[in-house]
Amino acid sequence: MQQALRLCTEVLLQPGDQAWMEDPGYPAARRILQSRGTTLIPVPVDAAGLDAAAGRALAPAARLAYVTPSHQFPTGVTMSMARRIALLDWAHEAGAWVVEDDYDSEFRFAGPPLTALAGIDGPGLDGQGRVIYIGTFSKTLFPGLRIGYVVLPPALVTPFAAARAVMDRFPPSLLEGALAELMTSGAFAAHLRRMRSRYRTARDLVAEAVTRAAKGCLTVTVPDQGLHLVATLPADLPPTAASDIRAAAGTEGWLLSETRLIPGGADGFVLGYSGHSPAALKQAAARLGAAAEAYCRRHAAALVK
Ligand SMILES: Cc1ncc(COP(=O)(O)O)c(C=O)c1O
Repeated sequence: MQQALRLCTEVLLQPGDQAWMEDPGYPAARRILQSRGTTLIPVPVDAAGLDAAAGRALAPAARLAYVTPSHQFPTGVTMSMARRIALLDWAHEAGAWVVEDDYDSEFRFAGPPLTALAGIDGPGLDGQGRVIYIGTFSKTLFPGLRIGYVVLPPALVTPFAAARAVMDRFPPSLLEGALAELMTSGAFAAHLRRMRSRYRTARDLVAEAVTRAAKGCLTVTVPDQGLHLVATLPADLPPTAASDIRAAAGTEGWLLSETRLIPGGADGFVLGYSGHSPAALKQAAARLGAAAEAYCRRHAAALVK
């Protein structure tokens, strides 16, 4: 995703151009856009995903929208069909680009498979689609591999290839060849099937351990897809509550507040459940839950005094 979004900024944006960014949203994407002088427009996300009508009201002439429609990062919501159509309608009218970061669709645990925005977009009056679809092997294999892919409207292929050649003239053909072999041999599909079941187990284990230890101090949303879940604190805690709890528990990971462009709302934790053994995940989740419970208890006691 990282290099693909960087290429989008180089090829499609001028410094100062506006881009819609999901709020809350993925901090790494935000940093990439900001590093190229893009003006970020925080567009609210609710239970139906990014609200294109709000985006239109805030910045109708933005040049690009960065979205995670299958599994919004960090909230985990899926963008509704009505919102998808509203977003594509805006993009065609405004001549803007929609960057679809489809980072974890391979790990879907329940519900029907989702159609990507890129799959429902069609050519507009200018004959062009407006969606740039980004996929990654960071979740299916490992982030250090640094291999992803981008599916472009045909007119963008040449400028993207030219920008990529300046940035990184020789792709890692050895790794790409090994990955291709993994896919054609069937080993990749088998790996996904095996890992889907392990991640579902890890998801349930973390959700259960953190919920149990937090004794009502955290509200856990169990996602249908992906490798992270969100645990939310009560809204009335002091602003440093989440970072204090994270430090007390000795855990790592984003705070919800770190994913927001406009501060506000309840804070909480984005909890990843990949890359560690079930035992380590369970322990860390229990530590975080216990630290949250202790914080909430102290806070309630202080209020009573
Ligand atoms: C929202 C989102 N997009 C993309 C990625 C992967 O990015 P990359 O392919 O640059 O490793 C992640 C990984 O954590 C993510 O959470």
